[in-house]
Amino acid sequence: MLKIEENVSLLPYNTFGIEAKSKYFARVCSNRELIEVLTQFKNTPTLLLGGGSNILLTHDFDGITVLLSSKGIAIQSENKKHAIVTVQSGEVWHDFVLWALNNNLGGIENLALIPGSVGAAPIQNIGAYGVELNAVVESCQTLNRKSLQRHEFSNKECQFGYRTSIFKTQLKDQHIITQVTFKLHKMPHSLECSYGAIEQVMEAKPKTIQSVAEAVIAIRKSKLPDPKTLGNSGSFFKNPELTNAQFTILQNQYPEVPHYIINPAQVKIPAGWLIEKAGLKGYRIGSVGVHDKQALVIVNYGKATGIEILQLSKHIQSEIKNKFDITLEPEVNII
Ligand code: EPU
Repeated sequence: MLKIEENVSLLPYNTFGIEAKSKYFARVCSNRELIEVLTQFKNTPTLLLGGGSNILLTHDFDGITVLLSSKGIAIQSENKKHAIVTVQSGEVWHDFVLWALNNNLGGIENLALIPGSVGAAPIQNIGAYGVELNAVVESCQTLNRKSLQRHEFSNKECQFGYRTSIFKTQLKDQHIITQVTFKLHKMPHSLECSYGAIEQVMEAKPKTIQSVAEAVIAIRKSKLPDPKTLGNSGSFFKNPELTNAQFTILQNQYPEVPHYIINPAQVKIPAGWLIEKAGLKGYRIGSVGVHDKQALVIVNYGKATGIEILQLSKHIQSEIKNKFDITLEPEVNII
């Protein structure tokens, strides 16, 4: 039964470990409960939370926080090459990766250990180590927040891009993803091991989805702080995409700048490299800082407030603007 709580601390529900209170709070485990809470609180500001791994809370929330907790993973159909799998949005992303590994289904092994929930994953098209979610999404099932009608978006209709989708742009805040349908690969499946660090960790090991996932987990653990011990939200900024002209200026000054060519007109460069070059890696002010092993991650050393984290992110943005004339855009949603 749907339970509405009052004055609930959101500290356990955001990986930055920020203390902020929500006036009302509900954990929903089914579409029916979701519709019930949205109907009851129709005119109240609503904050939807999945794994809470991509948000920065900067103040108490004077509305209702809805924690999307529906669970379930099911194979809908399969043939010799693929399995079509539906996953409820409240499943923990990494649990789904483990499920796929146990069932010998490939396609998401490079995305092991990414924090967050399955329902949040398509919104920013999560990606790591040469693979993005859009490669395996068949469709997303949603509920329109206003009309409460159900919809289905095919992969194409999701308009996936680098850390973006239609749910972050045109339809921002309009749909709630309730279930994601994946097309996973049966073995043999071609593995993506070209990312330098994976090649090094794997060395002569047999190449299986399990060994790729183990390599990814080892790399992530060595670079990225565990939110359970050091509050963080993964990459705070997106990697900026430069025009060729902008990139040439940067490369003339720093011939060593790492980069990836996206298309003939654009080059993506790692924001972590820029932040490190600006001398901010390991920088700390009070309870907040730039992680000392991966400069793209902002960490909460203890009792940081959301405002302190926001201020540090603004400081980083202005240093990067001054030094390189490049604008860094947050990847994290700031509430
Ligand atoms: N780099 C530095 N200094 C740093 C960090 C990175 O010089 O402090 C350089 C590295 O040496 C390397 C390059 O930047 O040459 C890329 O670094 P890395 O492989 O760590 O990847 P990234 O571009 O910083 C992205 C994703 C991560 C994902 C990794 C691995 C974004 C915004 N971030 O980071 O995703 O795990 O690639 O594929 O695209 C996340 O979104 O939360 C996240 C962690």
